[in-house]
Amino acid sequence: MSTVKLAENVYSVGVKDPKLEIFDIIMPTKNGTTYNAYLVVGEEKTALIDTVKKPFLDEFFANIAEIMPPEKIDYLVVNHNEPDHSGGVQAMLDKNPNLKIICGAPAMPFLKNIINREADIEGVKDGHLLDLGGKTLTFKGMPYMHWPDTMMEFLAEDGILFSNDGFATHLSSDTIWADEITGVLEDEFYYYWDVIMRPWAGFARKNLEKLDDFDIRMIAPSHGPVFRRNARARIDKYKEWAADKSEGQNNVALFYVSNYGNTTVLAETLAAELTAKGFTCTPTNLIGCKAEHARVMIESSNAIVIGTPTFNGDSVKPVWDLVNLFATVDRMGKKAAVFGSYGWGGEGIKLVAERLAGLKLKVYEENYRARLVPSDDELSELRDYAGKLAEFFAAGKKK
Ligand code: FEO
Repeated sequence: MSTVKLAENVYSVGVKDPKLEIFDIIMPTKNGTTYNAYLVVGEEKTALIDTVKKPFLDEFFANIAEIMPPEKIDYLVVNHNEPDHSGGVQAMLDKNPNLKIICGAPAMPFLKNIINREADIEGVKDGHLLDLGGKTLTFKGMPYMHWPDTMMEFLAEDGILFSNDGFATHLSSDTIWADEITGVLEDEFYYYWDVIMRPWAGFARKNLEKLDDFDIRMIAPSHGPVFRRNARARIDKYKEWAADKSEGQNNVALFYVSNYGNTTVLAETLAAELTAKGFTCTPTNLIGCKAEHARVMIESSNAIVIGTPTFNGDSVKPVWDLVNLFATVDRMGKKAAVFGSYGWGGEGIKLVAERLAGLKLKVYEENYRARLVPSDDELSELRDYAGKLAEFFAAGKKK
């Protein structure tokens, strides 16, 4: 991919990686990707925005050289330290030890551990301006889009938002322009959101508001095509996807799995009691529950309750499969509780509760366990437990 002019003295200088099959270990990339970087040439100074993945540095520097010698660049903006974008920082410093690096303040420790040398680095805060002479960049921290360090910047004179992983797409194409791509673009644009951004939707909700200050006419992300038509619609799409699906809801997502029906009895009793206390709660058997349905249930609920049996000192695969989904959804601030029937030690219940706490859910301190077939006394205890859960779930609930 050679250079492409985005505006007067603004260039795309990134590279294509059409053969990439998987990104970040977890994300198959059917259409490859690109590592985008941009060069903004002001009347007085020049800024390079991001670099590329290390194996592509020769092509990257050849692209820059079409515009100017890389050694002459004044500023390197590091929007995000993941190596697909920071892979050329050390090489840039080799070429120009006087290079000034601009990054978000939270990016400083990451960057220092990547370059492992002294360098002129400035960690900037929201609203910081970089005047290149007729080209002015305004920086905004965008935590967790995709890492805590992520930053974007707006080039006021040309209306361009350099958005790094925000609004990105894993898609390698013959053209850099989104409006010249048909077919897979919209699916891939959503897929990127779903895998990379959705777990941090709570942060995205706050971050996206920061973009309301700018008259954005073009979005230039760090992967895939550049949006030069109706760029604001891309931001609106992210706002729609990032909306808190549990806001104003009174849902408790109750999942369970049961071998001999004992945990089923507990699940149905607990769900009926929570329903009587004003929650919307239908017990969902994990056998036959599709992953996407479970993800939607989690996101549309303020609280999640999981019922698990214990086998051989552990919970069981359908429950762990469910728990593994939590890292892929908007889960911040949600509450949780765990219950189950057991025969020997009941360790699975505790293990699931600990894992949910590790995933930063607010887990009710007491788990409920009943041994083998729940007795009338145990079901009565469970109803009392439901009352305590109802209070816990209602406290501080989002309206
Ligand atoms: Fe494209 Fe989070 O790196």
